[in-house]
Amino acid sequence: MTTRRLVLTRSAAVVGAASAGLLLPQIVRAQSNKVRVGFMLPYTGTYAQLGVAIENGVRMALEEKGGKLGGREIEWFKVDDESEPSKGVENANRLVQRDKVDVLIGTVHSGVQMGIQRVVRDSGTLCIIPNAGVHAATRALCAPNVFRTSFTNSQPTLALGKPMYDKGVRKAVWITHKYAAGDEAFEGFRDSFTKAGGTIVKELGLPFPQVEFQALLTEIASIKPDAVACFFAGGAAVKFIKDFAAAGLKDKIQLWGSGFLTEGVLDQAGPAADGIMTTMHYSDSLDTPRNHQFRTAYATRFKMQPDVYAVQGYDSGQLLMAGANAVKGDLGNKQALYKAMESATIDSPRGKWTMSKAHNPVQDIYLRRVENKENKVIGVAAKALSDSGAGCKMG
Ligand code: PHB
Repeated sequence: MTTRRLVLTRSAAVVGAASAGLLLPQIVRAQSNKVRVGFMLPYTGTYAQLGVAIENGVRMALEEKGGKLGGREIEWFKVDDESEPSKGVENANRLVQRDKVDVLIGTVHSGVQMGIQRVVRDSGTLCIIPNAGVHAATRALCAPNVFRTSFTNSQPTLALGKPMYDKGVRKAVWITHKYAAGDEAFEGFRDSFTKAGGTIVKELGLPFPQVEFQALLTEIASIKPDAVACFFAGGAAVKFIKDFAAAGLKDKIQLWGSGFLTEGVLDQAGPAADGIMTTMHYSDSLDTPRNHQFRTAYATRFKMQPDVYAVQGYDSGQLLMAGANAVKGDLGNKQALYKAMESATIDSPRGKWTMSKAHNPVQDIYLRRVENKENKVIGVAAKALSDSGAGCKMG
């Protein structure tokens, strides 16, 4: 990463050289000619590992194609947003106003995304959302310059209710971190599970990022539902899986969730995760040449296994490249840039996908089961699922 300080120091050196009569104009041009790409991601806290996987994915997609965007070199900028919504606007402005990025890639947490959304709608800065599923970003607050490569919060859970019912679940308890991601994931679960014929007997929650699950697990044990369905991710997901098993619930109550529950956590969760059923737009075990090639390249490059976040980062890189190549690096040609990004088909490790009108992926959702530290595909739970995009008016 090149820090802002380093950039300023270099510019100062160039100005110094100019006043000494030594200016090489091409140096100035070469520097200002770089595409400025900013990451706003969590690098600390519960979602830290998600931020790292996303950045890795973006970098790998670009490196595979020569490390340039539309023929231009890239200059990187980075801000740790700490998954802290109250600092969302300020952190987005670090990249947009201070660093003057051409594109902001961010973020993971739905609450923080709302801050980014405000800043990029006001400034018109190109924004690629590599995870956060907050509905508003591609519904009422959609914008021509905002593209999402991940999901809306209710997309995975809209495919969750029916397979649960089909597996005999009639009464379920829902549990989540109480913020937009969990509450909107609940909407998808509620709609699909009740439509299938199931009953939600209790909704439980705790504030993000708390992980004191004990009292809630005791309550679940006393309710004795057929299943628990949940939204947790990152460090909190590891702890929930382990605490659920340690409380003696694993073999008595089925555990289901949107697939984030079992993404990037299976090594840490160990056998406690075996048997968890989830729905998600990706699975490690997708048996396609594209997925095998991606997984091998990622593991070789980063010495760790990729997960859905790495895939979303990788697709963010692919989408950005599709846009930048179409305008030959002239990111100021916004109309053509957005048109190319809107009409791109992304050849993703998850399977090919396209953008909805509101700029959210239209994609298959897989049903998966954890076996031996792997999310095994059971089948397709929803084909080419599109978010409603309700209330989105572009332009
Ligand atoms: C979100 O806050 O939108 C969010 C965070 C982590 C996930 C999924 C969604 O894994």
